[in-house]
Amino acid sequence: MIRHSASTLVIFGATGDLAQRMLLPALLGLESEHLLSKDLRILCCARTEQSPEDFRKQVAASFDDIEHATDTTKESLIKRLDYISLDFNATEAYHALAERIKAGPSGDVLFHLSTAPSWYPMICEGLAHADLVGPECRVMLEKPIGHDLPSSQQINDAVGHVFAEDQVYRVDHYLGKDGVQNLLALRFSNALFEPLWNAQHIEQVQITVAETVGLEGRAGYYDQYGAMRDMVQNHLLQLLCLTAMEPPSQFEPTAVRNEKIKVLQSLRPIEGGDLATHSVAGQYSEGAIKGQSVKAYAEEVGQATNTETFVALRAHLDNWRWSGVPFYLRTGKRMTSRVTEIYIQFKQIPHSIFSSGLKVIKPNALVIRLQPEERISLQLMNKTPGLDRDGMQFSEVALDLDLHSAFDHQRRRGAYERLYLDALEGNGTLFVRRDEVESAWTWVDNVIAGWAEQGSKPKLYSAGTWGPSAAVALTERHGHSWRE
Ligand code: BG6
Repeated sequence: MIRHSASTLVIFGATGDLAQRMLLPALLGLESEHLLSKDLRILCCARTEQSPEDFRKQVAASFDDIEHATDTTKESLIKRLDYISLDFNATEAYHALAERIKAGPSGDVLFHLSTAPSWYPMICEGLAHADLVGPECRVMLEKPIGHDLPSSQQINDAVGHVFAEDQVYRVDHYLGKDGVQNLLALRFSNALFEPLWNAQHIEQVQITVAETVGLEGRAGYYDQYGAMRDMVQNHLLQLLCLTAMEPPSQFEPTAVRNEKIKVLQSLRPIEGGDLATHSVAGQYSEGAIKGQSVKAYAEEVGQATNTETFVALRAHLDNWRWSGVPFYLRTGKRMTSRVTEIYIQFKQIPHSIFSSGLKVIKPNALVIRLQPEERISLQLMNKTPGLDRDGMQFSEVALDLDLHSAFDHQRRRGAYERLYLDALEGNGTLFVRRDEVESAWTWVDNVIAGWAEQGSKPKLYSAGTWGPSAAVALTERHGHSWRE
């Protein structure tokens, strides 16, 4: 279906943390580059009773620290903002919303649900009740879509009752990051990698999303979810999909998502005896990060808890391309440093012609660093300069591409700038389809259920480290080591 750029954006949960920290600043970024259509109106709604004027003042104050936009740009974005207080539970309230929308410019409407996902069914029902849904509407949903497969199906069913699947834009903000899209550019706009991108040439892949932050005031949410549901189910599995998928026929929603779902469907379940050797859950105890002492997770939560703040997994994709290649996935809070990285280690050379033998030759590796800096480095073996009286000496040297200096004149955009632009224009390529969400839950639920059946508890690790020692054993048992 041909979509037109939306003329109204309705943000539910507009007084929330995400809206204030990410969404409104992202819209400001788009405004400063004249990427918002001239007549776009942004209708913000939340339960808080306040006037549109007060809301605008509050947003204006929150923009004070933003340097990349001029005062004129800030003013023109603020002018687009309207506010309506809405009791999400009261179906009647949606009529007032409908009137406000109809009083604005005619055209497509994008609803962005940035509330707790438990509200999504109610909000969708309210929108339908007020006759606000039709082919000219679309809806953007924040994660987590559910807590497990059944709850995610329930939410997806309720949304699907009102919106067709191609009107639903499920956000995984990692897909909006430039570095993550660059993974696609690297794989599919260079001839160099594709012939090597398979089990014949790749020994192992590691995907790490390490954070130094702890709960950030979200104990209520996080303790219900844990790292497996909060990070692996979405961000890590999406990174796995982009790393492992077959080349899509085109960079468009159906082709890309058809390839991603095949990856998720190839994931071998981790169960039975494999749980002990292929999965590790951890929880941080007190420790120090960059010289600052930090509390244990349980102390932050305020009670003893078995929620995992760290997960390491040895995943396998049962398909032709990746048969036998381990994909190590690792994520955790309160780790040594913040890093999101994909590490691809190639196979060792088959035979050394040098007298020093194979042991001094390290296998080549490609490191794609996504955060905090974007960098791509290809680690190669080189001759160490010298006369080689004792045979040739080798050193590992990297071809190192620092993307921040390569593009130092370009502003780095937050993920939501790209996601908003695409959703406003009706391009779903960087959004997640229902079958992906549900396939990811199926795999993740199975591991969580296995842990529960075996009564296993997360292993403690000191804050400021790379996780529990069992995570080291997970790779070393197979002759691999985490890149640190
Ligand atoms: C969110 C998780 O989806 O991603 C958070 O809920 C996590 O727990 C965050 O901190 C990490 O995102 P980023 O962009 O900071 O890597």
